Amino acid sequence: MPAIVWNSIMQTGITSIDAQHKTLVENVNNLFDSVQQGKGDKATEPIILFLERYTLEHFKMEEELMAKSGYPGFAAHKKQHQDLIRKVKNLRYQQRDRTNPTLWRELSAFLSDWWREHIMRADMNYVPYLKGR
Ligand SMILES: [Fe+2]
Ligand SMILES: [Fe+2]
Repeated sequence: MPAIVWNSIMQTGITSIDAQHKTLVENVNNLFDSVQQGKGDKATEPIILFLERYTLEHFKMEEELMAKSGYPGFAAHKKQHQDLIRKVKNLRYQQRDRTNPTLWRELSAFLSDWWREHIMRADMNYVPYLKGR
């Protein structure tokens, strides 16, 4: 079973955002599976690099839409995005020394939980504003 099961309650109804969320969830699931199966850096590293880049693009788009819509939770939401970027950077930095084999596991589990929660809670809150209520 994938780490995050996509279902309709994760759907914002905003096409561009839902498409990006699905891509993110797919890649988080791939990372989680690769780590669970004990696949090495060759398999996991490209997924993480993709996720890092795609996450930045996604956050940028979401933040622009939130700012434009006048969403009152914008600052707090942006902070959540920044916290994730910082946390992933820290984990990646620690991973570099290769002395801690549990880090990939920690990173993939953290990302699964974070994305599931973030999409279902934080992202859902801006939906009425982005849709113009
Ligand atoms: Fe999002
Ligand atoms: Fe978000």
